[in-house]
Amino acid sequence: MTELKLDKSKIPKHVAIIMDGNGRWAKNKGFKRVIGHEKGTTTVNKIVEACVELGVEYLTLFAFSTENWQRPKYEINSLMKLLLSSLRKELNNMHDKKIKLSAIGNTAKLPEKVKKQLEEVKDATKNYDKLKLTLALSYGSREEIINAVKKISQKVKNNLIDINTIDDSTINTHLYTHNLPDVDLLIRTSGEQRISNFMLWQIAYAELYFCKELYYDFTKEHLFEAINNFQKRERRFGKTSEQLK
Ligand code: IPE
Ligand code: IPE
Ligand code: MG
Repeated sequence: MTELKLDKSKIPKHVAIIMDGNGRWAKNKGFKRVIGHEKGTTTVNKIVEACVELGVEYLTLFAFSTENWQRPKYEINSLMKLLLSSLRKELNNMHDKKIKLSAIGNTAKLPEKVKKQLEEVKDATKNYDKLKLTLALSYGSREEIINAVKKISQKVKNNLIDINTIDDSTINTHLYTHNLPDVDLLIRTSGEQRISNFMLWQIAYAELYFCKELYYDFTKEHLFEAINNFQKRERRFGKTSEQLK
């Protein structure tokens, strides 16, 4: 499968990836789980590069969930260190490729050093628009929705929002993802076929693509295959096929 077969006029605008299977990859090779996470960062770079090449406008990567805080301390610490070093290492690359980095999630819970580095990279890349890369860090969709409900309720209480005007856009503007369009294509690696609390609101009409490759084994070609598959689907959004013609 080559990139050439893809229809450049039908590239998904927003691709989101649940990067899963690092632990299993490491276990299969007889390594500690954290080695799998380290290896996974090389896949991140390849996928980011491929998205820039293809003209994907938004790429959102699920890197750490609210539930992942329950993992062993050692693994969490390793993931945080890895995040910190990747943010440091990739800044030049982001300048070169004009990538704008953002984050969604309860990032206040991240270690101070990570927060500081994240802010630095966000600030340094804020004027770029080639690829809008969003990292979901300490992200949970239910928590995001709960926060939105609280903010909206407070505004209703203070007469800043009329309850009868609450609609999709009211919810959208109170989510972490207020600057992002809805997800077009959601990919999950590693063979698991679940959403694991990722962008529940934002994937309402996303095309779902599950593949068996563990994250480290997920290549550019696999991404092209996912997009090729996406391009063959008919997105009806509730209408009939005939209505779309
Ligand atoms: C995904 O890989 C990365 C994170 C959740 C941080 P996993 O660590 O979940 O790998 P598996 O699913 O145990 O193989
Ligand atoms: C989802 O993967 C979170 C990330 C990829 C960051 P998990 O491995 O945490 O999900 P479950 O526990 O298998 O559902
Ligand atoms: Mg997993």
